[in-house]
Amino acid sequence: MQNRTLVRDLNDKLGQTVIVAGWLHRLRDMAKFGFAIVRDRSGLVQVVLTAEQLEQLKGLQVETVLKVTGIVVEKRTKDPNAHEVEIQATTLEILSPVTDVTPVEINNHDLDARLETLLDNRVVTLRHPKQRAIFRVQAALVHGYRAYMEKQGFTEIFFPVLAGAASEGGSEFFRVDYYGRDAALTQSAQLYKQITMGVYEGVYGVSYSFRAEKFSTSRHLTEFNQLEFEVGFIDSMEEVMEYVEGSTRGMFAAIQEECKEELALLNVVLPPLGEKFPRIKLIDALHVYKAETGIDETHEPDLSPAAERWLSTVWAPKVHGSGFVFVTHYPETKRPFYTKLDPEDPTSTLSFDLIGFGSEIVSGGMRVNRYDEQLARIQSKGLRVEDFEDYLMMHKYGIPPEGGFGMGLQRLTQNILGLANIKEATIFPRDVQRLRP
Ligand code: 4AD
Ligand code: MG
Repeated sequence: MQNRTLVRDLNDKLGQTVIVAGWLHRLRDMAKFGFAIVRDRSGLVQVVLTAEQLEQLKGLQVETVLKVTGIVVEKRTKDPNAHEVEIQATTLEILSPVTDVTPVEINNHDLDARLETLLDNRVVTLRHPKQRAIFRVQAALVHGYRAYMEKQGFTEIFFPVLAGAASEGGSEFFRVDYYGRDAALTQSAQLYKQITMGVYEGVYGVSYSFRAEKFSTSRHLTEFNQLEFEVGFIDSMEEVMEYVEGSTRGMFAAIQEECKEELALLNVVLPPLGEKFPRIKLIDALHVYKAETGIDETHEPDLSPAAERWLSTVWAPKVHGSGFVFVTHYPETKRPFYTKLDPEDPTSTLSFDLIGFGSEIVSGGMRVNRYDEQLARIQSKGLRVEDFEDYLMMHKYGIPPEGGFGMGLQRLTQNILGLANIKEATIFPRDVQRLRP
């Protein structure tokens, strides 16, 4: 639209005639005149309407799409220092009339709806300023990630979603009928990012991951995005963790710079990052958990959700001033076939999770890079070697010592914003029941 002014730029246009376009967020009819609150992608503005303009809106509901031409004037408020502007409308044009009442009220400060109602009516509820803010933060996280990776000189890769074999093992993959053949939706870009280690040495990308999770939980989706990363010619897993930490810090910087208003609107106080994210072996973490809480999970092969929460929201902030903690050296039985075994203890792996203010956000580690070793690992996991022909080809033709990680984008967004359910951090979530909108 030519000559349109966004609401956020109106302050600089005092006394000028402008064109504003957006949705009718709220309407107050005072008989002789009226107030329309108009919402565009940048904010809300009050428009003062004449009786005739009010008449034009007769029978129309909120969300009607409007084009307003008018003069920017200082808004009369009780606070003399407020300096807000409003628009004195000269003409009003209806671009798209709405005659139905919205299924959920979206013009209150908070959306008062259960999660299922909110998602059933996503088409409309997404328009609420707080919902909008969530996905602005998510976008800024990705900007921060991409900027960090580009600065390192790494290459962005666009990974396939349709594949012939599952990558993360287990039965949690979706089968697809591919011209009569069995195909799967990728669980992660794991195999593909590793293959590129024969070329680029450092790659990243935003992938689509699919998991046929059996249950709906507050932390699991059936479709989500991963911020993927892989790097070659490394000496240790520590190098991979440094990239996790560096990119996470870059993402926090990006949201602080790009999303000040959104973070304020969502009442978010970002957790502390500390000097350096602490690193602790799984077994040591379980012992600290036992010593400090009395809960003995030292014989478990993994952290329970409660232990993850305690470690990242109580222990790491208190002891290390950080809302993040790396937990390392998970047992062989808990990690996929591509994970490198710990040379000092082959029942353990060179793997880590980053736990961030509540739950696991990242999994990563060193990978098996030699052919014989990978063949043996595939066999010992009971997988069919025929399924990994292409994958093993990369090992056969030389892959450097390498490692990488995958960060759950929706999980990160959920934890940063303190959202109770991961579906709130997913613009169009899919779970066991939900496949719409
Ligand atoms: O831990 P995961 O399964 O690891 C991988 O996919 C490996 N390929 C990563 C690697 O490079 N070694 O998934 C990575 C992250 C998790 O830490 C979590 O944040 C997120 O993806 N995630 C999910 N998010 C939402 N719903 C689910 N069902 C998820 N499963 C994993
Ligand atoms: Mg994991």
